[in-house]
Amino acid sequence: MNDLMGIVLRGTGRGLPDRVVKNAEFEKTLDTSDEWITARTGIKERRCSAPGESTLTMGLQAARRALDDAGMSPEELDLIVFATISPHYPLPSTACLLQAELGIRDIPAFDIGAACSGFMYGMIVAGNMLQNGVHKNVLVVGSEQMSSITDYEDRSSCVLFGDGAGAAIFSSTDDRRKGLVFCSMGADGQGAKLIWIPGGGSYEPVCQKTLDERLHYVRMKGREVYKFAVQKMQEVIEEALAGAGVSPDELALVIPHQSNLRIIESACEKLGLPQEKVMVNIDRYGNTSSASVGICLDEARREGRIKEGDLILMVAFGAGLTWSSALMRL
Ligand code: ACO
Repeated sequence: MNDLMGIVLRGTGRGLPDRVVKNAEFEKTLDTSDEWITARTGIKERRCSAPGESTLTMGLQAARRALDDAGMSPEELDLIVFATISPHYPLPSTACLLQAELGIRDIPAFDIGAACSGFMYGMIVAGNMLQNGVHKNVLVVGSEQMSSITDYEDRSSCVLFGDGAGAAIFSSTDDRRKGLVFCSMGADGQGAKLIWIPGGGSYEPVCQKTLDERLHYVRMKGREVYKFAVQKMQEVIEEALAGAGVSPDELALVIPHQSNLRIIESACEKLGLPQEKVMVNIDRYGNTSSASVGICLDEARREGRIKEGDLILMVAFGAGLTWSSALMRL
């Protein structure tokens, strides 16, 4: 894919529920342990929303913080892209609900469903819209209430997911040094049923059978996804570095989707990327799917791990199967 230059990251924010669920809580209802979860995934705890909280409320919190950070008012936005696989309602899009909550009207707003690659798909779509000159200030949000689509009777998947939202505002700029130096998106629908929700869509609308068979929850073939993820992460990082002619030493930070610490470590080790250059917060939030890269981006900025002028590499993969990379000069 082409580079998308003349784009600047104006502000970021995150929205996380207060409720912390530690691994030990799962020991009460499932045959699992803190040791197993920590050793196999790197996760120690995750956030779970309380009644009244949703993909919309977390997304709104993240969006308001990103606007504050950018010193902008909602009226200055001219596009909203909202990445989620756990929308507030099936209809209309959560992007439209967010627009209303922000008190603005008329600007286009739509959802993107690319699972864990969602925030990055949204960012690259935003980058294209900015570059074609029609839009000037785009709000990209990734938000998930994974707890609403997680099967808490399935120990192999329920321990992985957490709730949360990340948001970023991207604007067009005359400074052609800033922007996406290299970006890519890909998908392989042959792997659709490696991570999927069988029921509740048009093929199997909600009925007593889908409820009884728990078809409205995420199902995942963990081991197969694991192999795909390690391989694909390495591939897309190599492709981005080669595509932009950049060496790992030039990167200030790598922000990978937080799915499993072992996946992140294995890919980075193979590429010779030192741990201190890799953003990890999976121990505190688990896998927040579409939100994960956005949450990491916000934490990295607020902790001073990245600053203007830095080169950062974001990379994600997820259900679809989907994947994406973006090398960004801040
Ligand atoms: N506690 C204890 N034992 C468990 C648990 C658990 N929570 N879950 C599974 N096990 C058991 C299994 O039953 C199996 O037992 P067996 O050997 O007696 O059959 C054993 O542990 C090993 O199971 P594996 O599935 O092979 O374990 P693995 O090391 O692969 O770890 C995991 C499982 C963590 C799910 C891993 O495969 C993984 O992270 N996969 C990738 C997940 C991912 O990246 N998803 C992508 C995005 S999700 C999205 O897009 C929404």
